[in-house]
Amino acid sequence: MIVKNICCIGAGYVGGPTMAIIAQKNPNLVVNVVDINKERINQWNSSDLSKLPIYEPGLDKVISETRGKNLFFSTDIDKHIDKSEMIFISVNTPTKTYGDGKGMAADLKYVELSARKIAKVAKTDKIVVEKSTLPVKTAAAIKNILDETGSGVRFEILSNPEFLAEGTAMRDLEVPDRVLIGGNESSSGKKAIKALVDIYLSWVPKDNILTTNLWSSELSKLVANAFLAQRISSINSISELCEKTGADVEEVAKAIGMDSRIGNKFLQTSVGFGGSCFQKDILNLVYIARSIGLKKVADYWNQVIIINNHQRKRFAKRILTSLYNTVSGKKIAFLGWAFKKNTNDTRESASIYVADLLLDEMANIDIYDPKVSSDKIYRDLNLLASRTENENKTLLKVSQNAYDACENAHAIAILTEWDEFKTIDWNRIYNNMNKPAFIFDGRNILEKKQVEKIGFIYKGIGKS
Ligand code: UDX
Ligand code: UDX
Repeated sequence: MIVKNICCIGAGYVGGPTMAIIAQKNPNLVVNVVDINKERINQWNSSDLSKLPIYEPGLDKVISETRGKNLFFSTDIDKHIDKSEMIFISVNTPTKTYGDGKGMAADLKYVELSARKIAKVAKTDKIVVEKSTLPVKTAAAIKNILDETGSGVRFEILSNPEFLAEGTAMRDLEVPDRVLIGGNESSSGKKAIKALVDIYLSWVPKDNILTTNLWSSELSKLVANAFLAQRISSINSISELCEKTGADVEEVAKAIGMDSRIGNKFLQTSVGFGGSCFQKDILNLVYIARSIGLKKVADYWNQVIIINNHQRKRFAKRILTSLYNTVSGKKIAFLGWAFKKNTNDTRESASIYVADLLLDEMANIDIYDPKVSSDKIYRDLNLLASRTENENKTLLKVSQNAYDACENAHAIAILTEWDEFKTIDWNRIYNNMNKPAFIFDGRNILEKKQVEKIGFIYKGIGKS
């Protein structure tokens, strides 16, 4: 099959940047990104590139080069499904919030809806590519829906998980460590795999494109994220030991990371990992293992989540105990709300959980994040349903810069490692704070000695 038109269902953090790069590298392809959310599509089409729905360094440039040429954003889902030979499904797959598997399994509602839509609309053979992270064997379910509800056209399913990390998405897409494509071993399966390989070959070296069977590909995505998250929970567990013993976790991380068998990446201790993937994918892995009776395997991976939750709680608890066991009525400034720097994404950000615990103690929180809107911050907290919206509004404020957020604060908590926090005028901040002035550095971005010289009491993670 010759692919000339591509459609991607889901214009989110994955669909948007991935399709922008595919379009940029394949000027002969027409790429249509469709979404049910009209507002999101309008933002993607905005002439002001600072209004794109997601913040990702370098994305605006690629969009300006491709949009309107061979990259289009639209809500006309049916039309673009129909005229494309290849359709990517890149809708969100959140953790289920109801029924069997609640709090653990992936909610495949949107994937199923997408498959049903494709089946209903397709009048010619299609290659359907899973981009969303999915539990193992989802391809079989998609295939079933397509075959049973379609009108006799043939569907070939591929799994092509995305390994981009937010904040570095454009680089990750341009020079990926690997591109993984899973498909059926039948002759039509092999042809479909080749069609997708050819698209990536426009810019990815052949040796970096890995083809596997469908299930290996689906499982590899979950396992890659589980391994990455496991490293963070491992170093975070050691951070607690360091705080109690006088060892410095960063010195430990450096010492172990220089062993080439361990390697130095993903050993940065933190207030806990966040993002839309790690927790969800591990919970998925745990759910799958448990549901096929592998209790020991499930418990092993679940421990990564347990340590992450513990790390968030521990950070909030440290603030509380350091401030003489009461934060009620005290102002605590939060620097950062996003789950990491260089993104406006806040899904599962540790900041949400730390704020929740401190608000339970009746603290007043004032937040500054360079890219996250105040609407989003309130929505994140309101979703937890720990307090009414009014209570959140009364206790929590959002500021437009770090100086306002920190004015008259008793303590500062650094939740995201934004570069600009390193170059703040810390003397000015200190002078306008309540004394003693504390800094709880959830990302270890500041030099302990330097801020202590100003007068702050500094508490880094994994540092006594
Ligand atoms: C991606 C992956 O798809 C997910 O599986 C992975 O685990 C995390 O990253 P992401 O792009 O980050 O999801 O999600 P999001 O930014 O929420 O975008 C999904 C888009 O799909 C939204 O814009 C939503 O409106 C759209 N959508 C959802 C549809 O167009 N149709 C639907 O039926 C459901
Ligand atoms: C992750 C995977 O890296 C990516 O391959 C996959 O496609 C999606 O999930 P993402 O969630 O965007 O990407 O960001 P990542 O850079 O992995 O960070 C996840 C969380 O871990 C962040 O909260 C980050 O601050 C934290 N982290 C990361 C640490 O605490 N320490 C580290 O050493 C690295």
